Parts: sequence; C-alpha cells; structure tokens
Amino acid sequence: MKLPVWANINFDFDQQKIKEELLNNNIFDKGVVATTDYNNEGRSRWDPNGDIFPEEIFKKNKLIHHYKQKNGERELVKGQYNTFQMLNLTYLPEKEITKQQSWEGSLEKKDKRPLWIKYRQPWSWREDLNIPYTKKIIESLPIEYVLTVRCILQEPPSIGVVHKDNGPITNKDFFDSGFCSLTLNIADGGANLWAQSYKTEKKFKIDESKYKAWHFDDACLHCTSEVKSRRIQLRIFAKLNKPYTEILDLKNAEY
Ligand SMILES: [Fe+2]
Repeated sequence: MKLPVWANINFDFDQQKIKEELLNNNIFDKGVVATTDYNNEGRSRWDPNGDIFPEEIFKKNKLIHHYKQKNGERELVKGQYNTFQMLNLTYLPEKEITKQQSWEGSLEKKDKRPLWIKYRQPWSWREDLNIPYTKKIIESLPIEYVLTVRCILQEPPSIGVVHKDNGPITNKDFFDSGFCSLTLNIADGGANLWAQSYKTEKKFKIDESKYKAWHFDDACLHCTSEVKSRRIQLRIFAKLNKPYTEILDLKNAEY
C-alpha cells in the first residue's frame, strides 16, 4: 500500500498532563531556535515572499527570525516573529551532537542528514528531565524502541517557517525499513500545520484541534500559521513493532 504523507493515528492520551509535565521541566527556556535560511536548491525555504504559501496569513513571514549568509557563515537575523524552537528528549550517549542538534553534515557537501536517519539504534532518554508520564505514553505506542524524540515549540508571536526536515528518498528508505515519524499533538496553540505534498504537489492544512496523533512525512514542505498561544508537539522517530499501514487511520489521509 502507498504510504500517505499525512494520516491520523487513533491513539489516546492526556494532552494536559503531558503539557504540565513538560512545562514543569521549563522546556521553553531550554529549547534552541530552529530557523532556516532562504535556499533555492536546498531543502529549506523561509518563503518570505509567499511563493509557496501565498495566503494572506503568511504575509508576515518576512518578519520571522532567519539566517542570512555573511562571509560564508550563517548569521541569525532577529525578526519580529519567533519561529520553531526544539528540545531533544532523547540522545545517544556516544554522540554528543545528539543532545542539542537534529542534523549532521552540510548542505554544501550534500551530506546533511537528520540524526534519526543516520543513527537508527535505540536512543536513551535524557536523565536531566523528569517526564515519567510522557515517557510512559510514548513507550505505549506500537514501537520497539525510540530514536529521536523532540519537542517542537512555538510561543507567540510566532509563525513556523516553511521547511523540510529531510528528502523524499531517505524518508522512503526510513519508512521501508520499519521506522516511523509520529507526532503527538500536546497543545495546538490555535495554529495549523500547512504542507505541500511532494508526491502530488497538493497543498493542505490540518485542523490540529481535531487530532491527537498523526503520521507525517517531513520531506513535504511545511510550516504553521501564527500561533495564538503556546504550541507544543512531540516528534517521535521510532522503530515500529508492526507494519506502518496497520496503525494509520486513512479516513482523512493526504497523499
Ligand atoms: Fe519540520
């Protein structure tokens, strides 16, 4: 069966309880900003001119924090709008980079890859965070073990920049090898996920107030609309213990 780029997963948990637990660990103070530079060839698009998402609500994209190239270095340009922050909840003790980062390599050398794509052995939970309920819920998913688990955070004023996290070929290999890319929606922040399928070029938006968990192929360009309150999501990359198609609810799936 063809894997959708987005599909609901019927999985229940207490969103409020996870939210409180994460906030008690000061996740917003610990997160690092995850923005992008405008890059025509690369996988990242800040989309300041609305080439991808021309809708009125994205007119403010120009005002988001972003990088610009200066003497071969990336320089952060602070805008009036925040964007995604991320915080890893798992890491690989033997790989220091996995505590803070999500990618390794460079776009110039064409070897930039997400860490969950490169390191597919079981990752460990961070000992400095006290998140027993969050861990219990994640481990009750139909998975054998977790790789990267990260919080994706936004705090007003914030718009999620247009980007991809990986390319279609490596994501296909990842899914074909029995791994998954799940999202647990902890607080939607009054925003929606917007995406464009790389398979059909169709653009779609997800009404996040309706779903608690989903599969998302992050090789699609995606972003969020402006948040009204704190948006908290858990991105979980893991080895499944059953075929992906068995856990997906295909009713409103996007291909
Ligand atoms: Fe993303």
